[in-house]
Amino acid sequence: MEVVIVPDAAAGGELIAEAMAALLRRTPDALLGVATGSTPLPVYQALAARVRAGAVDASRARVCQLDEYVGLPAGHPESYRSVVLREVVDPLGLSPKAFMGPDGAAADVQAACAAYDAALAAAGGVDLQLLGIGTDGHIGFNEPCSSLASRTRIKTLTEQTRVDNARFFDGDIEQVPRHVITQGIGTILEARHLVLLATGEGKAEAVAQTVEGPVAAVVPASALQLHPHATVVVDEAAASKL
Ligand code: GLP
Repeated sequence: MEVVIVPDAAAGGELIAEAMAALLRRTPDALLGVATGSTPLPVYQALAARVRAGAVDASRARVCQLDEYVGLPAGHPESYRSVVLREVVDPLGLSPKAFMGPDGAAADVQAACAAYDAALAAAGGVDLQLLGIGTDGHIGFNEPCSSLASRTRIKTLTEQTRVDNARFFDGDIEQVPRHVITQGIGTILEARHLVLLATGEGKAEAVAQTVEGPVAAVVPASALQLHPHATVVVDEAAASKL
C-alpha cells in the first residue's frame, strides 16, 4: 500500500485526477469506478477541467457506481445514480450509456445485486476504483464487520452512517434510507487499482486504522492492505494520527 500525504483536499483532487487522466491516455475506454460523498468532488472537478482544457480525451471513458441507496424514487436528486450523473458523467461530457450502476429501485434487489456483479465482470472489470472512507472505516457501504470476501449485496446502514449522510437529506435522518446496495469488499478488491482519498480530521482515526491497524472486518477499508496496487491519498489533517 502506498500512502501519499498532500497539503489539502484540492491537491489530492489534482493528484488523483492526473492519475485518471494518465490512465485514459493509456486506455481510452478505461472503466473508472467512482465514489460519492463530498470527498471525491475535487477529483471530478479537476478531471473535468483537464477534459475542458484538452489535456485528456475522456470521450471513450466508462464510469461505474460503487453503491446505491435502496428505495429512493427514480430521479431522486440524492440517489447515487443522480449524483454520479451530475458530478461525473455530465461534467466529463459522457453519454449516460457509458455509465453503469446497481438498480436501487429493483423489485428484486438480490437479483439486481447479482446482475451488477455480472455486469462489472462482463465490462472487463474496473481499471481504477476511487474510494472515500466513512468515519467508521467503511468503504462503499460496507459497514464494519462486512465480510472481506463479500460480493455486491444489500446492506443495512449503521446509525452513524445515517447521521453522517443526513446532511444530504435536509439534515433529517428519517429521510436517509436504511438499506443500500454496495459492491462487496471482494468485488472492490478486484479493481486493478484502488485509490482511497480521505480529507479532514474527522477521517484521521479511520485512516490510521486502515493503514497501520490489522486487516480486520471491523475496519472494512483495512482490506486495501490485501490489494497489490492500492494508493491512499490523505491530506495533512486526515494523516494526523499516522
Ligand atoms: C458514503 C458513501 C461512501 C463514502 C462515504 C464518505 O457512505 N457510500 O462511498 O466514502 O459516504 O463520504 P464523505 O466523503 O462525504 O465523507
